[in-house]
Amino acid sequence: QNDMNNDIERVLYSEKDIAEAAARIGQALANDYAGRTPILLSVLKGAVLWTVDVMRHMQYAEVEFIDVSSYHGGVASSGEIDLITDLKADIVGRDIIILEDIVDTGRSLKFMLDLLKERGAASVKVASLLDKKEGRVVEATVDYVGFDVPNAFVVGYGLDYKELYRNLPYVGILKREVYAPEHKDILANDLG
Ligand code: PRP
Ligand code: MN
Ligand code: MG
Repeated sequence: QNDMNNDIERVLYSEKDIAEAAARIGQALANDYAGRTPILLSVLKGAVLWTVDVMRHMQYAEVEFIDVSSYHGGVASSGEIDLITDLKADIVGRDIIILEDIVDTGRSLKFMLDLLKERGAASVKVASLLDKKEGRVVEATVDYVGFDVPNAFVVGYGLDYKELYRNLPYVGILKREVYAPEHKDILANDLG
């Protein structure tokens, strides 16, 4: 009853899978940025767990946070991106690595890429735990991908539904009955 795990249909990426992805990408970034000090730009709130896990595998790096929002707590992108909290650092001439938990429609990412380039960043790359390529509406490329995720509503390890499930240590598919109780009876068919 009081167990979030019961709301999960299926685990897609275990705690161990994610730890391996964080190490793989953190080490790749450490290599690729050797001799430089990039700014890790963590996108609140979803990317917080991914950020702290990836940065542990890196060398010299600064960390900044930006809060952009598109989902407003629901299951579908609203299409409109809000800049909730801006980053604090001057980024002129800096190498930026955007850390995301998931890139779906690409709208949040495109918004940030445009913003950072306009402000004079020397380079901008993207490292995302999940890449939902099927969800893309605008062009946005992820340079470092943890996993290519299928087109299902996933939660955990930073990803929320109505601000919950971010603290699950793994990523899983949310049971449809949790977000669409009226469709409870077609649950079995729909998720395949
Ligand atoms: C989610 C996710 C990404 C973005 C991806 O954030 O964490 O930042 O949406 O979707 P997109 O590619 O369709 O733009 P959300 O806006 O839900 O805020 P949150 O991180 O605080 O949950
Ligand atoms: Mn987010
Ligand atoms: Mg969200």
